[in-house]
Amino acid sequence: MTGERTDAPGRPTTERVRGIFSNIAGQYDSFNRISSLGIDRSWRKELVKAAALTSTSRVLDLCAGTGDVALAVAKQAAPAEVVITDFTPEMLEIAAEKAKSYEGPTKLAIEQADAQDLPFDDESFDAATVAFGVRNLPDRAANFAEVRRVLKPGGRYIILEFSRPTFAPWRGFYHVYLRYVIPAIGGALTGDRPSFQYLNDSIRQFPTQPQLASELRDAGFTAITWKNLTGGVAALHTAVR
Ligand SMILES: C[S@@+](CC[C@H](N)C(=O)[O-])C[C@H]1O[C@@H](n2cnc3c(N)ncnc32)[C@H](O)[C@@H]1O
Repeated sequence: MTGERTDAPGRPTTERVRGIFSNIAGQYDSFNRISSLGIDRSWRKELVKAAALTSTSRVLDLCAGTGDVALAVAKQAAPAEVVITDFTPEMLEIAAEKAKSYEGPTKLAIEQADAQDLPFDDESFDAATVAFGVRNLPDRAANFAEVRRVLKPGGRYIILEFSRPTFAPWRGFYHVYLRYVIPAIGGALTGDRPSFQYLNDSIRQFPTQPQLASELRDAGFTAITWKNLTGGVAALHTAVR
């Protein structure tokens, strides 16, 4: 990081990221559905499958936002408990409201927490999930170390994140979409176009699939695999503690 500007366009800083999500919390779900044409739901389903949960699993959902991953986990896999965490109270308030309508066997707990400094005991979770969150962390290595600490041996860390399409023409189209269409939709829905410009920049600066796998390996995870979704628009990494 030495010598790099912390205010560069796609670089996450705590203030910038929290400011963005507290501003757009109310419109976040609508933006997701419209901008991804609903595909984000099928990506979250894939994430739940990759977590390989059982009815006794205790799951930590990081950067949970408005709770879509946590609710998908509860509905699809019915583990014993999902702990829903995020550092932006405005996003968690919406998650809490949505969690009220969940009827099922899974206990849903909500806790404000920074994904780089987790307030949980060592070896206390069977799986950790994060969707569209690690890209927003200034210190990914700190997150990886914390997740390793709170996972039980053999526990899985499942990361769903925007990535790099592998087929060049598809990548070209996608980058045009990111650069022009996303800020236009986001700006129209929230009045906060710069936040969606940040989204474009942060996606383009994020590590490629093999680079992220290599960071996870450096952090001590094993059995790292990834699956490209929608031609690599997103990727699902699985890593074992
Ligand atoms: C793009 S949203 C993703 C929300 C949700 N996981 C989903 O799939 O829709 C990113 C979330 O990460 C949260 N976040 C960003 N940095 C964080 C950090 N350091 N600790 C905890 N949450 C963070 C933001 O508040 C925001 O709610």
